[in-house]
Amino acid sequence: MKRILIVGNWKMNLNTQEASLLVKRLNDRIPLHRDIEVVLAPSLLTLQPISNEIDRRKFRLAAQNAFYKDEGAYTGEVSFTMLRELVHYVIIGHSERRIYFNETLETIRDKVQAAIRNDIDPILCVGETKHERDAGETRRVIHDQLNTALSNLTAEEVERVVIAYEPVWAISTFGNGQPAKPDEIHSAISWIRQLLKDTYGKQLSEDVRVIYGASVDAEFVGAILGLAGVDGLLPGAASLNYQKFTDIVEAAYRSRHRQPETKPK
Ligand code: PGA
Repeated sequence: MKRILIVGNWKMNLNTQEASLLVKRLNDRIPLHRDIEVVLAPSLLTLQPISNEIDRRKFRLAAQNAFYKDEGAYTGEVSFTMLRELVHYVIIGHSERRIYFNETLETIRDKVQAAIRNDIDPILCVGETKHERDAGETRRVIHDQLNTALSNLTAEEVERVVIAYEPVWAISTFGNGQPAKPDEIHSAISWIRQLLKDTYGKQLSEDVRVIYGASVDAEFVGAILGLAGVDGLLPGAASLNYQKFTDIVEAAYRSRHRQPETKPK
C-alpha cells in the first residue's frame, strides 16, 4: 500500500524566525507515522535553515519552484541542481506560477525534466480555472497540462512524478474556502489516471501518486482520502497553522486506520 503523502505549501509566507517556530511546533506535535509521508514546502530563503531543524525521520522538504537551467546567467533564479542536496521534491506548475509568472506548458515541461535530471521528484500541479470549468473544459485543460509536462520523460521517469490535482477555483485565495466536491475530485483524478493509462499502461497509471490540493482542512480529509485513487493532500493556507496542519496529518492517519464499523446486534 502506498504511503499517504501530505505536502504543506507555505507559499510566500513566514520569515526565517517564523518558519523555525512553526517547524519546532510541528516537530513537537506530529509523531512519526510509518504510513504517512509529511513534506514541508517553505520559501526558498528558509529551506536551508529548516533543513537543519526538521526531524528528518518525520519530515521531508520540497521547494515551491526552481529554474530549468542547471547554472548560468539567469539573474534571480535558483536551479534544481542547487537544490538537489536540500530537497526531496519540487512543486512545479502551481497555478499561481502559471497565472502570476506566466509559466507556460513548455516551461513547466522543462522544469519537470530538470527535476528528474537532478534526481528530485516533481510535484506537478494541474487543474482548471473557474472560467475553464464554466466552459466545460476541465478535461481538456488537464489533458494538455499533463501530456505536455510529461512529454520528455520515459515511463520509468514518469513513475517518480507526483501529480497534484488543484482546481484553481477552489484554492482558498481564489475561491470561498470550500474544496471541490468529492465527486468532482474523483472525476478529475480518475481522468488523470485514465490519461496515464492511455499512454503508459495500467500498472503505471495505478502506481503514480495523485494527490488533491485546494482548501484542504482537517474536516475534509476523511472524505477526500476515502475516494478511490487519491494518494494524498496538498494544503496551503492550513499548513501555516501548526494546529490545523497537525489535525490534517492526524485525520489522514485516522482515515488509514479507520476501524470497521460494528453493526448493532
Ligand atoms: P489552499 O492552497 O489550501 O490555501 O487552498 C493550496 C495550494 O494552492 O496549493
